[in-house]
Amino acid sequence: MSADQPLVLGIETSCDETGVGIVRGTELLADAVASSVAEHARFGGVVPEVASRAHLQAMVPTVHRACAEAGVALSDIDAIAVTAGPGLAGALLVGVAAAKAYALALDKPLYAVNHLSAHVAVDLLDNGPLDQACIALLVSGGHSSILRVPRVGGQELTELGATLDDAAGEAFDKVARLLGLGFPGGPLIDRAARDGDRDAIAFPRGMTGARDDPMAFSFSGLKTAVARWVEARERAGEPVPVADVAASFQEAVVDVLSAKAVRAATESGIEHLLLGGGVAANSRLRELTAQRCERAGLRLRVPRPGLCTDNGAMVAALGAQLVAHGATPSRLDIPADSSMPITDVLS
Ligand code: KG4
Ligand code: ZN
Repeated sequence: MSADQPLVLGIETSCDETGVGIVRGTELLADAVASSVAEHARFGGVVPEVASRAHLQAMVPTVHRACAEAGVALSDIDAIAVTAGPGLAGALLVGVAAAKAYALALDKPLYAVNHLSAHVAVDLLDNGPLDQACIALLVSGGHSSILRVPRVGGQELTELGATLDDAAGEAFDKVARLLGLGFPGGPLIDRAARDGDRDAIAFPRGMTGARDDPMAFSFSGLKTAVARWVEARERAGEPVPVADVAASFQEAVVDVLSAKAVRAATESGIEHLLLGGGVAANSRLRELTAQRCERAGLRLRVPRPGLCTDNGAMVAALGAQLVAHGATPSRLDIPADSSMPITDVLS
């Protein structure tokens, strides 16, 4: 560890996780997360007001927990990074207000960053610096995009393609609900699929026709196909083979995601493919993409599953890169931006 690199505190409150991370350079010192997911489960989805209140309660204790974990005092922090968007407006506001207060009280610069770029930058904590461009497959509850990233943690990126309808994580959540598995659906489908046959049901691969955009995704047709298939079984009075449906649905999603991401890297002549976002925690997506990268001669970078889902470490990781490259800090009057464009890395 190089003690002369700035110590960055990152705050994440865009959805239902209050995350506080502490990073020095690309070294992770603390990753404290308080989740309100259990409070939302009975509603089958995140309730914004409940999330905001939970953030408010968890914010200060989670900051203290992160400092204790890192063995640092708040006064040691050199910069504050926070998710400014995209996400739930009320939830983002709690983190942004807290970050401004810490920046003001500690007299340290504030970096109001994009949640999606943070999902990409977190890779540096697990896989170390990368001095080349990469293609990033960013797959979360709200987004599914293929990005060209000249430098991980930099302010430039190009979106090569995105989903035309549901995000991959959203499809996991909706299919889990219709299978009665619960919320959030991604990890539950991942687990149920382990006991199933991924070739049991041939679900459609959206946007893979000869005339379809090779960089775009569509998952709503797949979700409907799963619903129809399950309904047909129920109407016939036959039991629904949940594990097989989960495995076949999961395969349809990850087959398309990994194929398009690998193709984007190969066609752009870029050697590194990076996976980020909650869906990157999916065991089958990781496995299949690793196989395809090996075959295509690509190098795969994917953080450990716990850093794929929302956390504060990713925000600190991006903040540390911005500080290291001399980015201009954000003004203390920046707003939370629930629909912050993916290409705006820093407000
Ligand atoms: O990045 P994230 O934690 O929050 C957002 O920014 O949206 O992603 C959450 C999404 C949810 O839809 C969740 O079901 C999905 O990621 N997810 C998974 C897995 N773990 C989380 N999807 C598939 N397999 C998983 N193991
Ligand atoms: Zn996220």
